[in-house]
Amino acid sequence: MRIMVVGGGGREHAIIKYLSKSPKADKIYALPGNGGIAELAECVNIKAEDLDGIVKFAVNNKIDFAVVAPDDPLVMGAVDKLEAAGIKCFGPRANAAIIEGSKIFAKNLMRKYKIPTANFEVFSDLDKAIEYVNNHALPLVIKADGLAKGKGVVVAETLQEAEDALISCMRDKKFGSSGEKVLIEECLTGPEVSVLAFTDGHTLVPMVSSMDHTRAYDNNQGANTGGMGVIAPNPHYDFNMAARCEREIFMPTINAMNKEGRKFKGCLYFGLMLTPQGPKVIEYNCRFGDPETQAVLPLLSDECDLLEIMLAVSEERLSSVRVLFKWDCASCCVVMASREYPDSCKTGFEINIDAAKIHELNNVNIFHAGTKLNQDGKLLTSGGRVLAVTAVAKSKSISQEGVGDALAQARSDAYNAIKYISFDGARYRSDIGLH
Ligand code: AMP
Ligand code: GLY
Repeated sequence: MRIMVVGGGGREHAIIKYLSKSPKADKIYALPGNGGIAELAECVNIKAEDLDGIVKFAVNNKIDFAVVAPDDPLVMGAVDKLEAAGIKCFGPRANAAIIEGSKIFAKNLMRKYKIPTANFEVFSDLDKAIEYVNNHALPLVIKADGLAKGKGVVVAETLQEAEDALISCMRDKKFGSSGEKVLIEECLTGPEVSVLAFTDGHTLVPMVSSMDHTRAYDNNQGANTGGMGVIAPNPHYDFNMAARCEREIFMPTINAMNKEGRKFKGCLYFGLMLTPQGPKVIEYNCRFGDPETQAVLPLLSDECDLLEIMLAVSEERLSSVRVLFKWDCASCCVVMASREYPDSCKTGFEINIDAAKIHELNNVNIFHAGTKLNQDGKLLTSGGRVLAVTAVAKSKSISQEGVGDALAQARSDAYNAIKYISFDGARYRSDIGLH
């Protein structure tokens, strides 16, 4: 099969790595891909948001199957356009991707179908929003309605923070039209869990749970980022909790989307908080998480073929394929970022990777996010998040508490691998998996 993957980050590198293991994968293109993906796929310089360019490329190159990974093209309708051109896709159509594209849509869906989530109010008028925060107890959570590159959420501890967030969103248009409407939410507490799930709109298969580390610095300090590291499975998410989430959240969401005439096919990401009152939805994403994917896909059983699973999702026969995970293993993914990340970064620094030493570690994958090859074939930094270094380890004794020994080993291996990687300004959190 001739396959096209839209996107060019660490998530797409992981997806392509596992797709490329399939005997059915004859040729893979990445649009636009990156310096690491170039080892596995042909990178084509078309941006993920250039929908017309993507469709034209797919038709001209006789693509059999397209995987659209990032949020922007999904919300903009990339799958609808590709399908209209006769191309089979993995990923939701725009009318289902709205579950991420509009937080207000998602919240109203949850309210209508009684899916547990934080209480909320919607505002399109700045004065009314400011009046509301003045009359309610803090902290409150302020969210831009639309996509904002993961930066549209502020947990406001003080009135000043709440007012600043509302003003920058609604008056100063920090997020453009994405911030014209805002949500003000009750602030929940508890451990956060990410669960990615394959679904064809009928069957839902959750993957191994994970825990993202979104703040820029150790001890959860600094700005929110796209994610600085992930562990999987999430130690707070046991078998009973998984069963409860499936019953109270996952299947009700699939059913709700069907009732609304918005069948969701692809990877649905549940961002959950395990509150004292039970699990609640913090957010949905209409796609694989980044960097969750870099920690979760390495835990897919070697007996499984990611391409077969994705094809089954697309053809609405997910129940006919086996989706197995290495439940006796754990993974730890540490993001190496550029010095200034999440602010705009200086790039173009040479990356040195001692491949022989990393190979010796045996169980480490380096997924590239912001990298590119120059004309001489040298690997350079090209973005904020540069590499996602993932180690997988097997538990010697799975216990009631899970695979804690494997997690400790995976942490240690990931941080060992990082010692063999360097570039000017390289920065990473040293506490992934410690809290
Ligand atoms: P989101 O982009 O919606 O996932 O929000 C980003 C982060 O803000 C989440 O990972 C949480 O840490 C935090 N957050 C969002 N909504 C809430 C809420 N209602 N209560 C507490 N924290 C929240
Ligand atoms: N890591 C969070 C996300 O992919 O949105």
